[in-house]
Amino acid sequence: MPVHQQRISLALQQQLPDPNAVAAARLAEAMHYATLNGGKRLRAMLVYATGEAFNADLEALDAAACAVEMIHAYSLVHDDMPMMDDDDLRRGKPTCHKAYDEATALLVGDALQSQAFECLTNNDLPATQQIAMVKCLAQASGVMGMAGGQAIDLASVGKQLNQSNLQSMHLLKTGALIKASVLLGAYCSSNYQPADLKHLSDYADAIGLAFQVQDDVLDVIADTATLGKQQGADIARNKPTYPALIGLEAAQQKAQLLVNNALDALNNLQNQCLALRALATFVVQRSF
Ligand code: IPE
Ligand code: IPE
Ligand code: MG
Ligand code: MG
Ligand code: MG
Repeated sequence: MPVHQQRISLALQQQLPDPNAVAAARLAEAMHYATLNGGKRLRAMLVYATGEAFNADLEALDAAACAVEMIHAYSLVHDDMPMMDDDDLRRGKPTCHKAYDEATALLVGDALQSQAFECLTNNDLPATQQIAMVKCLAQASGVMGMAGGQAIDLASVGKQLNQSNLQSMHLLKTGALIKASVLLGAYCSSNYQPADLKHLSDYADAIGLAFQVQDDVLDVIADTATLGKQQGADIARNKPTYPALIGLEAAQQKAQLLVNNALDALNNLQNQCLALRALATFVVQRSF
C-alpha cells in the first residue's frame, strides 16, 4: 500500500497543470495546493485495491485514482468555504480559500472537476470502458451523489434528521464517491462478472457509510493537531451527525458493524481481496 501512496502523489503531480506552463498560473498553483497537501488517499487506494483484484492495468488505475482524488479534493475545497462549513484548517494547513482567496477556491473546485474527467479519457483503455467510467464518476459527483448529499447536509443544519435520512445523506455526500472509487477500479479491467459489481457495491456502500460515521466520531473524540482539521466543528455548527443522533458509543458500534458487513460482501468474490479488507478495517481504526 505505501507504494501506491507514492504512486498516486506522483501521478497527481503529472496530471495537474504545470503553473509555469499555463496562463492562469495562480489557479494552477492553488490546484496543486489543494490536491498535493497530504490526505490519506483512501479513494485512490480503493481504486488500486479493486483494480488489482481484477488484474487491471496499473496505468489505467493511475488515471482513475487521480480522477477520484481530484473530485474529492474539489469537494473539500468547496466544503470548507464560508458559505458551506466555513473551516480554516484542512490537512494541517490553511484551507484553500484562506491560503488564496474565495474566488480562487471556487475556481480550483471547478477546474479540478474538469481535470478529473480529462484524466478518465487520457489513458489507453477502449472508449467503451472510458465512457462507463465517465458516467460512473459523473453520477457519483452530481446531484444524485456528492453534490446532492452536500446540499442536503447544508439544508439540514440545526434540524433533527431521523436515522434513515441521516444515512441517505451520508451515503450521498461521502458514500457515492467511495463507491465510484471501487467501481472505477473494476471498470479498468474487463475481468469481472456482473455479480462481482453487486458484491463490490455492497462492500463500498458499507465502508462509505462507515467512513462518514467515523468522520463524525473523530470530530468528537480526536484532537485538531491529529485530525489536521478543527475538532468539534460539527458540534459548533449543529451539524447532523451519527454521534449527535444516536450517541458516541452507538455510532462507534455502527461503524464497526458496517465494516463487518463490508467484509462479508467480499466473501462472495473469488479473489480474497486482501487489500480491500485492510482498507475496510482502516476506515474505522483510523485516528484522522
Ligand atoms: C474528509 O475525507 C471528508 C469526508 C468525506 C468525510 P478524508 O478524511 O478522506 O480526507 P483526506 O483526503 O484524508 O484529507
Ligand atoms: C464532507 O463532509 C463531505 C464532502 C463531500 C466533502 P464533512 O463536512 O464532514 O467533511 P470534513 O469533516 O469537513 O472533512
Ligand atoms: Mg461538510
Ligand atoms: Mg466539512
Ligand atoms: Mg466531518
